[in-house]
Amino acid sequence: MTANITVLAGDYIGPEIMAAGLKVLAAVSEDQNFDYELHEMPFGGAGIDQTGEPLPAETLKTAQQSDAVLLAAIGGPKWDGASKTPEQGLLAIRKALNLFANIRPTEISTAMQQYSPLKNTEPVDFVIVRELTSGIYFGTPRETTADYALDTMRYTNEEIERITRVAFDMAMKRRKHVTLVDKANVLDTSKLWRKIVAEIATDYPEVTYDTSYVDAASMKIIASPSQFDVILTENLFGDILSDEAAQTTGSLGTIPSMSRGVNGPSLYEPIHGSAPDIAGKGIADPISMIRSVAMMLTHSFNRDDMAKEISDAINQTVTAGVVTPDLGGHATTDEMTETIINYIKESRHSYEPDHV
Ligand code: NAD
Ligand code: IPM
Ligand code: MN
Repeated sequence: MTANITVLAGDYIGPEIMAAGLKVLAAVSEDQNFDYELHEMPFGGAGIDQTGEPLPAETLKTAQQSDAVLLAAIGGPKWDGASKTPEQGLLAIRKALNLFANIRPTEISTAMQQYSPLKNTEPVDFVIVRELTSGIYFGTPRETTADYALDTMRYTNEEIERITRVAFDMAMKRRKHVTLVDKANVLDTSKLWRKIVAEIATDYPEVTYDTSYVDAASMKIIASPSQFDVILTENLFGDILSDEAAQTTGSLGTIPSMSRGVNGPSLYEPIHGSAPDIAGKGIADPISMIRSVAMMLTHSFNRDDMAKEISDAINQTVTAGVVTPDLGGHATTDEMTETIINYIKESRHSYEPDHV
C-alpha cells in the first residue's frame, strides 16, 4: 500500500525545512518496504499568492484524501494586515480536518542537555496536549467596531471531554500523570474545564492528576519541569506555553507536533512559525521538521522503527555538535540534514550481515 502524504511547504523558512524533512524521509525509507507518494500543494501565503486563498479548495481536498499531512510553516510580513492571511488558512485546515488535539512534546534528552539553558539536571520529558479547534481562536461573537474589539472564549462540555480523554489516554502510556493548566481563579471556561476534567479523571484511577494556574505553570516549566508528564490545556494557553517549553531544549527550532482528529489524516508540523528573520540564509534548524516526519511515521504509519532511526541520527548529530546557529553552531540547514542522513546510512551499514 502506498502512503499518500500531502505536503504543505508554506512560507519563508517553510520550504527550506520541508526540503530537509523530505530528504530524510527519502533516506530512511530506502529498502524499508515503505512506499509513499507526495502531493505538494499551495497553502498559507503561497496559497494566497498562487490562488488568492490561504487554504485553496484543491489543497483541502487533497489533504482530506491523504493518509497524513506534513506542514512546514506559514505566514510572515508579506501578508500581515491583508484581508486574507496565511494564519486564516492554518486555522481553517485545523477546523476542516477536525484536528482538535495538538500534541507538542518537550524532551531534554541526554544529547540535548548541553544546549538547554536550564541548570536543571533531572530528566525533562513531557507533552503538552493543546486543544486546537475551539476556545478564543474560534469563539463568536468576534468583531471590531470603532470603539472596541471583541473575542470570545467559549468551550462546550463535549469539546473539553474529548481532549481530556486524549490527555489521559496518553498519560496511561507514559508516567501516568496529568496536569490541567487553566485560569480557574478567574475564567468561567476554566472552571468548566476543572469540573469536567475531575469527572473524567475518575475513569482513570491509575492516573494522578493535579491542576496549575497558567501563570504559575509558566514559571514551573522553567523552575521544575521534571514534575510534568502530560500538560492538558486550552488553545491559547497551549500555544504560549509550548513555545516557552520548546526553548528549554535549546531552541524553538527543534520541536515537532502532531494534530489529530477522530478519523481522517493527522497533520504534522513544527510548533514554530516561518522565521522570516532568518529565511533565505540557509540556516534554519531542520530538527523540528525532521522530527515531525518521525512523528508521522510512528503515528500515521505505525513505523516506530523508522522514526527511531531518525531520532537516533538526530541525537548523534547534535552530540557531534553539527548544529545550526539557533543552537550555537555554525552548520547550515543542508549540512545538518546531510549529517543526519549519513548517520542513518552508517547505522544500517554497520548492521549489515557479512557477505561471504
Ligand atoms: P517564529 O516561530 O517564526 O520565530 C520566532 C523566533 O524563533 C525567530 O527568531 C526565528 O528565527 C526563530 N526560529 C523559529 N524556527 C526556527 C528554526 N527552525 N530554526 C532557527 N530559528 C527558528 O515566530 P514569529 O517570528 O513570531 O512569527 C513569524 C510568522 O510565523 C508569523 O507570520 C506567524 O503568524 C507565523 N507562525 C506560523 C506558525 C505555523 O505555521 N504553524 C506558527 C507560529 C507562527
Ligand atoms: C502555532 C501558531 C498558530 C497558533 C498561529 C500561526 C495561528 O502560533 O501553530 O503555534 O496560534 O496556533
Ligand atoms: Mn504558536
